[in-house]
Amino acid sequence: MIKNKKLNTQDINIFKEGTFITKTPHETRNLGKSFATVLKAGVIVFLKGELGSGKTTFTQGIVKAFGNKGFARSSSFMLVNEYKANNVKLFHLDLYKLEPSNVWDIGIEEYIYSNNISIIEWADRIVDFKNDSHWNVEISNMYSKRKIKIKKKK
Ligand SMILES: Nc1ncnc2c1ncn2[C@@H]1O[C@H](COP(=O)(O)OP(=O)(O)OP(=O)(O)O)[C@@H](O)[C@H]1O
Ligand SMILES: [Mg+2]
Repeated sequence: MIKNKKLNTQDINIFKEGTFITKTPHETRNLGKSFATVLKAGVIVFLKGELGSGKTTFTQGIVKAFGNKGFARSSSFMLVNEYKANNVKLFHLDLYKLEPSNVWDIGIEEYIYSNNISIIEWADRIVDFKNDSHWNVEISNMYSKRKIKIKKKK
C-alpha cells in the first residue's frame, strides 16, 4: 500500500503499473490529482469499476489538477463534460447508458482520437478498440476502502 501523501508525483513510473488503496473519497481525489501528471495530448484513460466505486471521484482529482474550478459530475445526465488541461481539452465521457453494440454510433472517436485527453467512465462498454495505447484504471470496493489498479497499456 502506498500512502498518497508519499507519492512522488514527478515520477510517473509509479503509475505504469501500481495498486493503490484509498480510505476516503478525498484520498481517491488526491490519487487522481497525482495521476494527472501522466496526462498529455492524445492520452486515453479507461475507468472501470462497479456503480459507486469512485470513477467520478477519481476524475474530480484530475479535473482539479489542471486548475478547473468546476467538478466532474457523476454520470447519468451528461455524456461528455469538457474541461481544460494546459493547452489541450480534457474530455470526461460517461458511457454507462450505452450498449456495447452502439458505443461507436455516438461519435466517441471524435473525442478520443482528437489529440486531446479523454477520461472514459464505463470504458468496459467499448469493444473493438483499435488503439492499443491507453491507461487502465480499475477500481474495486473493499467495504469503505477502494483498491485502485492502474496500468499503462503499451
Ligand atoms: N475511498 C473512496 N474513494 C472513492 N469514493 C468513496 C470512497 N469511500 C467511499 N466512497 C463513496 O463512494 C461513492 C463513489 O461515487 P462516484 O460517483 O465517484 O462513483 P462512480 O464509480 O463514478 O459511480 P457511477 O458508476 O455511478 O458513475 C461516493 O458516494 C463516495 O463518497
Ligand atoms: Mg461516475
